[in-house]
Amino acid sequence: MENQEKKRILSMYQCTGTFTLGNYLGALRNHIKLQEEGYDCVYALADLHALTVRQVPAELRKYTKEAYAFLLAMGLNLEKTVFFIQSQVPQHAELAWILNCYTQFGELSRMTQFKDKSAKHADNINAGLFTYPCLMAADILLYQADYVPVGADQKQHVEIARDIAERFNGIYGDTFTVPEPMIPKHGARVMSLQNPLSKMSKSDENQNGNISVLDDPDTIMRKFKRAKTDSGSEVRFGEGKDGVNNLMGIYAAVTGKTFEEIEREFEGKGYGEFKPAVAEAVIAELRPIQERYREIVADKAFLEQTYREQAPRAQAIAQRTLSKVMKKVGLVQ
Ligand code: TYM
Repeated sequence: MENQEKKRILSMYQCTGTFTLGNYLGALRNHIKLQEEGYDCVYALADLHALTVRQVPAELRKYTKEAYAFLLAMGLNLEKTVFFIQSQVPQHAELAWILNCYTQFGELSRMTQFKDKSAKHADNINAGLFTYPCLMAADILLYQADYVPVGADQKQHVEIARDIAERFNGIYGDTFTVPEPMIPKHGARVMSLQNPLSKMSKSDENQNGNISVLDDPDTIMRKFKRAKTDSGSEVRFGEGKDGVNNLMGIYAAVTGKTFEEIEREFEGKGYGEFKPAVAEAVIAELRPIQERYREIVADKAFLEQTYREQAPRAQAIAQRTLSKVMKKVGLVQ
């Protein structure tokens, strides 16, 4: 297939800490596979989005480089995929400004992530947090993405990007491809191991609820053994069994087994056997990636050269869209 005929995929990741098992199962792992499925993939680290919450500068830089190394360790193929750091492609911030002017206060006020994050960071409800979806829309629309693979928590943001694209196209004629979200069947919403009603997140205060992709095997085992479940013992998917449902979701995503197969496998065995089995599956999945990661992250010169080389590739694609938009809205070029 010629490059232009391939459907374009775009996705990005915040790098405010080490990726969690939620990022891995809900997003990263599927995105690496999509490279092999005939899509034209564009991936990036959303470091500008990270600034909407106060960061320690040296840590943000460190996490950004580590996240870059982690995706390479997972098998991101730079011959097939463009993979860059958002702040190194200035077109994102430029288009975001323009899109701000085509997005309504009311629709941004309805975003659940804005409501959640402003409740959590009540002392810093900044304008960036509010217009975050416009920057995300710019990320997507600059690359004329057909599909945006994300975990379930980002679906609303992809929907507002669609609304913005349709609105802009309605005023100025076809400019943007209207993107569709792509949500995985299993792993789309990995929950905290300590509170299965809230999503697993890097910023979770209780680190026992969160598996980091760089956790060592003993830590992973310990966290799964302590995972909150209900007072029953049957490994069965059902209402009121949020903890077990979450563990089943993780096990299904990692092993590819269906819920029925999992229920059969653990019939009569109880949580005491199920939890370490989930941990073992996760450990086995992450081990080879962690080994490659340690080699890649140690080679600072290689990493730096790689992300520097990627930025112009992304800029070339992004500028085509930005120029078109600037012309349409009446900016002198
Ligand atoms: P972020 O950095 O929070 O998460 C990166 C990806 O991981 C998914 N994810 C999860 N999936 C399942 N279970 C979880 N517990 C879980 N936690 C996170 C997210 O859905 C996401 O796919 N705003 C975005 C980053 C972004 C972006 C974009 C994404 C910026 N620009 C353009 C797509 C397209 C975010 O904060 O994701």
